[in-house]
Amino acid sequence: MTINDNHSQTKLTTAAGAPVGDNHNSMTAGPRGPILLQDVWLIEKLAHFDREVIPERRMHAKGSAAYGTFTVTNDITQYTRAKLFSEVGKQTPMFARFSTVAGERGAADAERDIRGFALKFYTEEGNWDLVGNNTPVFFFRDPLHFPDLNHAVKRDPRTNMRSATNNWDFWTSLPEALHQITIVMSDRGIPKTYRHMHGFGSHTYSMINANNERVWVKFHFRSEQGIENLTDEQATELVGTDRESHQRDLLDSIDNGNFPKWKMYIQVMTEEQALNMPYNPFDLTKVWYKDEFPLIEVGEFELNRNPDNYFAEVEQAAFTPAAIVPGIGFSPDKMLQARLFSYGDAQRYRLGVNHHQIPVNAPKCPFHSFHRDGAMRVDGNHGSRTSYEPNSFGQWNHQPDFKEPPLKVYGDAAHWEFREDDDDYFTQPGKLFRLMSPEQQAVLFGNTARNLGDAPNEIKYRHILHCYKADPAYGEGVANALAIPMSDVLETAK
Ligand code: HEM
Repeated sequence: MTINDNHSQTKLTTAAGAPVGDNHNSMTAGPRGPILLQDVWLIEKLAHFDREVIPERRMHAKGSAAYGTFTVTNDITQYTRAKLFSEVGKQTPMFARFSTVAGERGAADAERDIRGFALKFYTEEGNWDLVGNNTPVFFFRDPLHFPDLNHAVKRDPRTNMRSATNNWDFWTSLPEALHQITIVMSDRGIPKTYRHMHGFGSHTYSMINANNERVWVKFHFRSEQGIENLTDEQATELVGTDRESHQRDLLDSIDNGNFPKWKMYIQVMTEEQALNMPYNPFDLTKVWYKDEFPLIEVGEFELNRNPDNYFAEVEQAAFTPAAIVPGIGFSPDKMLQARLFSYGDAQRYRLGVNHHQIPVNAPKCPFHSFHRDGAMRVDGNHGSRTSYEPNSFGQWNHQPDFKEPPLKVYGDAAHWEFREDDDDYFTQPGKLFRLMSPEQQAVLFGNTARNLGDAPNEIKYRHILHCYKADPAYGEGVANALAIPMSDVLETAK
């Protein structure tokens, strides 16, 4: 059954298909009289309008998206049996949505914030969603903190304004956040456009090859446009003249045939190596060093088609880390584990239980998904087909060939903190700081000081101390930018 909205027709009808006789004058009792309830077109038009808004994404609400093509450029079949990687030259259609995180749907684009980097690959074995960011790490590594992060960076419950105090109080209460804070406060904290930033899967995922052998992987996407950023000053000026600078740039580039591209790489760690790592390889606040785990080229994606309708295709897009395909799997990363639940749950609320049927979300390969009924089921609902399994009619057969190899897990059930030897919050941010040029370090100090704004001194001191632990020059630089004597900070910390 298809819905026949005839786009070549220009004559207005009601939703039920009847001609609308007058779309300019409501039906009234006399030319100056009140409106009659029997003006059903007026009632239908207002009633539909009243329901046009759907909940925005709780975070990553403001975004821009485009369709494109992924092409394999290097053979990684030794690691994965995923068909999208099966041969060099193979192409897979895809959809990408980039976003800011803290701002609402109408927020300005050029804000200091993480950028979302969500990819949907329409593979022949189902959709694979890689829902990443433009940073390789995150603020923390236990998902219980996630709702609090959002409460802290979004609007204050009383003032309805963003609050530097809430934001930095929370961040600095979690020393493991320093790595991510350092990236967000660095010169990369405001990408010039969505085209000029790298992307990361961030979590550790797994790959499983044709022999059913597992390796751990991290995904990287490197912008072929290069990295370009805005300073705080440039961003302030830009936001004053154009609140949609990222949307405009992506839309115009693609409309003008200037198709942005990213190269995909993976880092690979064997299960054996993971057991012997000096830090937890499933800790989302840490990177794997590239000299130990070099980037292996996989392919390239190009974005080459803008959506025709923002609401239908971008607002209603649903990405979830739970959408994987055979040959790609999860890992014990606690954050990833919680995300496997949270996205589908949010989308069942935001878009409805049948959101998989929305064209941008539907697989492009044949699928046969068992679920029935629910609000807004519009595809015929499997007609008269058997609705249970097991059954005697050969229907709804599961596919044991696609089961993953067993994963050894161990341990006593408890609310575990990370192990003691995982409590090194400062080595990696320190290394990152030392990789920066003196100019970049100066930018980091200035951005941090401006961003800390009117947060109380106690919070500023806490942050300076964390920076100092990562590298004394980092702490001193931020302290100077805030006109706070480092000696005071060290004294208070005693
Ligand atoms: C969006 C939850 C961490 C990247 C969302 C949404 C939820 C969510 C509920 C809205 C989904 C929707 O309405 O469609 C969580 C939870 C996290 C977490 C519970 C941690 C426990 C992360 C991390 C990343 C990330 C670590 C990146 C590595 C994104 C992106 C979107 C998003 C890119 C927007 C997707 C789109 O474009 O539609 N998150 N998130 N999130 N999240 Fe997370």
